[in-house]
Amino acid sequence: MPVQRAVRMDVPRAWCMLGLALAVTSATENFSWTRQSPSSFYYSTFPKGFLWGVGSSACQTEGAWDKAGKGPSIWDTFGHQGGTVFMNHTADSACESYYKIKDDIQLLKELKVNHYLFSISWPRLLPTGIKSEKVNQEGIQFYNDTINALLENKIIPIITLYYWDLPQVLQQKYDGWQNTSMITYFTDYADLCFESFGDRVKHWITFNNPWATAEEGYETGQHAPGLKLGSDGAYKAAHHIIKAHAEVWHSYRKKWHRKQRGLVGISLSSAWGEPIDLSNKVDVEAAERYVQFSLGWFANPLYHGDYPGVMKDYVGRKSSEQRMASRLPVFSAQEKNYIKGTVDFLGISHFTTYYISQKSHPPQEESYFTDRNLVELVDPRWPNSGSSWLYSVPWGFRRLLNFIKVQYGNPLIYVTENGISEKLQCAQLCDDWRINYFKGYINEMLKAIKDGVNIQGYTAWSLLDKFEWNRGYSERFGLYYVDFQNQNKPRYPKASVHYYKKIIKANGFPNPKEVASWHQQAAEICTSSSQLLVTEPLATHMEMVTEIVVPTVFTLCILISAILLLFLLRKQQ
Ligand SMILES: *[C@@H]1O[C@H](CO)[C@@H](O)[C@H](O)[C@H]1NC(C)=O
Ligand SMILES: *[C@@H]1O[C@H](CO)[C@@H](O)[C@H](O)[C@H]1NC(C)=O
Ligand SMILES: *[C@@H]1O[C@H](CO)[C@@H](O)[C@H](O)[C@H]1NC(C)=O
Ligand SMILES: *[C@@H]1O[C@H](CO)[C@@H](O)[C@H](O)[C@H]1NC(C)=O
Repeated sequence: MPVQRAVRMDVPRAWCMLGLALAVTSATENFSWTRQSPSSFYYSTFPKGFLWGVGSSACQTEGAWDKAGKGPSIWDTFGHQGGTVFMNHTADSACESYYKIKDDIQLLKELKVNHYLFSISWPRLLPTGIKSEKVNQEGIQFYNDTINALLENKIIPIITLYYWDLPQVLQQKYDGWQNTSMITYFTDYADLCFESFGDRVKHWITFNNPWATAEEGYETGQHAPGLKLGSDGAYKAAHHIIKAHAEVWHSYRKKWHRKQRGLVGISLSSAWGEPIDLSNKVDVEAAERYVQFSLGWFANPLYHGDYPGVMKDYVGRKSSEQRMASRLPVFSAQEKNYIKGTVDFLGISHFTTYYISQKSHPPQEESYFTDRNLVELVDPRWPNSGSSWLYSVPWGFRRLLNFIKVQYGNPLIYVTENGISEKLQCAQLCDDWRINYFKGYINEMLKAIKDGVNIQGYTAWSLLDKFEWNRGYSERFGLYYVDFQNQNKPRYPKASVHYYKKIIKANGFPNPKEVASWHQQAAEICTSSSQLLVTEPLATHMEMVTEIVVPTVFTLCILISAILLLFLLRKQQ
């Protein structure tokens, strides 16, 4: 999941302005066709061969942080410092997926997904981060077995190489992503992965959410490695990450592509920014700037060779009159050429939308956030979640996807993350709000495909409740509930599991009647599970629910229908 700045509300004003905005035109692309009937549901199915999946990441689920030859990552060190993560939670054991990977693959089979998106832990393969120093064969074996088990079950592995768990040694010795030497070390690590698994893995994601790595890791320091280096720290880290991505893409082309025929992409995380007042040119520009500063920061160099114009313009700007030299690092002409076009597909992680307004006062301090010169607002009527930054706003998804189509020449897109966290910390298996979230967002994605956006796969985030970075275990994104109190970390399906399965099976939303029945069925299954939970511990009864209650109810239904049918037939004769 991405970690984004919490947004505070300033809403009555926002809504008055929105009311005034309706009749006015604007020169900037406003995706007005998506506004026509924002609440209307689109019944249709996805193109044949569309990939459905779920995702997870190594650091958030594997546990075994110091077992089987793994070196520490920046998240291990950061968590162990104390006072950095909610209630001092750590990722030490997480979901124990390192030991329970076979169980997790059973869950994937149960969901009948086409793909599983997961990440390789760099320090599990290379304990010091450096290939020439030590390769951990146990780590290779673990991922090799995982990949083989997935393929035996006809599940496509989509693998992320960097999901925030930089080997701690690289942070300590070289300042991590502040240092250009990361480019070489990361390329060597990627090369080891292509060599070991590339005969079977055809979808590679170099980086997941580099925005968070750069911004939250090196500027605000709210996340690992916890450095507060100001915006220069963030811009520098991003600069090196972009170059490292390009290097890996070229290296794959040169060494592996002819034999392995895989795709190398990147996964970028961005909310959608909607102008608060469509009639106000400065708000419309601020909203575009919002997306350029999150998505465009990385996508623009990769598709067009350089940072977005507005970023170059606004980073370092003191006021509209007084232009300062930009604090953004600069790509040389040669680097621009080298970086441009190094994406075989674009992974998109998307969770929420904000209204954006131009900020009226010039920023006091220099930071990434003030560089943007805007404010983010939310509508209090939007359903919220277990995360302060996450509101359910499905229509923003379609607009973001159309923005990508326009900006980057209709690239191949895989949605790599989309989901919502839990409001409650207790065992809440009837996650109606998550069902509504998935239904709404997946439907808006379907509309985007109708608009012509080239989306070929969708990944629900996430398979399990897991370690949510500096929020510890307090925010639950899982389709499966994990009982973290229990040493064995048992998993239980939430109602959304049943709902998502129906979407996958039908490859979309075929008709109103069928879709309505899914919701009801999911609710019934989880109500019966939850009733049992009230009196008995979770573990003993979940199996009973799925193995005994559900089949019994189904059998009874069939019997009753048969009897009724016979009855009717008799009557008619
Ligand atoms: C959006 O833009 C189109 C043309 O680009 C224009 O006709 C329409 O009025 C605009 N809508 C709004 C709400 O500004
Ligand atoms: C977390 O760790 C810090 C530093 O060791 C300590 O001061 C704090 O009391 C701990 N908090 C909890 C909730 O245990
Ligand atoms: C990984 O799995 C493949 C396919 O089964 C096998 O050929 C290869 O030897 C395995 N590698 C390791 C290190 O076990
Ligand atoms: C980057 O790492 C190298 C060693 O690879 C070191 O010599 C250099 O001082 C580091 N640069 C910075 C800016 O930390």
